[in-house]
Amino acid sequence: MLEIKGLTKKYGKFLALDNLNLHVDRGEIFGFVGPNGAGKTTTMRIICGLLRATGGTVLVDGVNAIANPQEIKRKVGYVPDFFGVYDNLKVMEYMEFYGDMYGMDKEDVDEVAEGLLELVNLADKKETFVDTLSRGMKQRLCVARALIHNPDLLILDEPNSGLDPRARFEMKEVLKNLGSMGKTIMISSHILPELAEMCTSIGIMERGRLMLSGRVEDIMHQTRISRPIHMRAYAPDFADAREGRDYIVTLLMEQPEISRVNFTEDEILLSFTGEEEDAARLLKYLISKNVLVSNFYREKENLESLFLEITGRAKA
Ligand SMILES: Nc1ncnc2c1ncn2[C@@H]1O[C@H](COP(=O)(O)OP(=O)(O)OP(=O)(O)O)[C@@H](O)[C@H]1O
Ligand SMILES: [Mg+2]
Repeated sequence: MLEIKGLTKKYGKFLALDNLNLHVDRGEIFGFVGPNGAGKTTTMRIICGLLRATGGTVLVDGVNAIANPQEIKRKVGYVPDFFGVYDNLKVMEYMEFYGDMYGMDKEDVDEVAEGLLELVNLADKKETFVDTLSRGMKQRLCVARALIHNPDLLILDEPNSGLDPRARFEMKEVLKNLGSMGKTIMISSHILPELAEMCTSIGIMERGRLMLSGRVEDIMHQTRISRPIHMRAYAPDFADAREGRDYIVTLLMEQPEISRVNFTEDEILLSFTGEEEDAARLLKYLISKNVLVSNFYREKENLESLFLEITGRAKA
């Protein structure tokens, strides 16, 4: 659906995109993550035919975005990170204005717009002035507007910025619905966990380069691997605390999923590479060996730290 090869963008001497390669399949919700200045907006604007690339190719459904910026605008719907003033337009008039830009008949626009406003939960706001909508509503209206010409690919640049948790939730529901309708969606954010919840695949960008991309499950798996287990344990069969501790260490080191055992002042920290079930089995095993265990817990999947690790590594 979306195929980016060797995409390069220079602003003067500054290299904003450095040989970017990216592939998104039809029907995917692709999350584009990266810190400020990574090049997300630049990439998105090039895909939409709004900005000229310095080099490389971008194909949307086989159409070359760089050679055919006009044709690409029919294929792609774009929700920019920043939207301007609305000059006394009502919601429905706003939709009609955009439909007209795509050369659609008023009747067609009205019919399509009805459905889209329904989809983004603004059906009861048709006669409301756009200026008076809340930020979350404006964002959703922007999504409806970007879909007016029925594009195959919807690109949203930071649609959640400035939204409160409720509005974020509503936006997420709208995007999930679109995903299930078979639209291909690309959405950017600098918050990885937020995207991981609703995306099928993600790419992490840093300073114009793609650092990592893949299916969310695979990336989550990677983070699972690096999550340690914390616990407290006692071996009541041993009067001598030191012997008890040696006994516990021996049991733990026999486990293939445990690569390291660290004793801190009040707990034991295990480097653990197993799945959730392996962790549960380990607990059962320890108890079966008459080790008393308390405070057994595994660190949460921490996408944010993975993100920092990846983007931090790039700076090193
Ligand atoms: N018109 C421009 N002229 C010069 N430099 C630019 C221009 N637009 C963007 N840049 C630079 O290109 C780099 C990438 O910018 P871009 O807006 O694509 O990043 P981003 O990932 O969208 O960041 P953010 O999360 O802040 O929106 C930045 O270093 C930015 O300063
Ligand atoms: Mg941006």
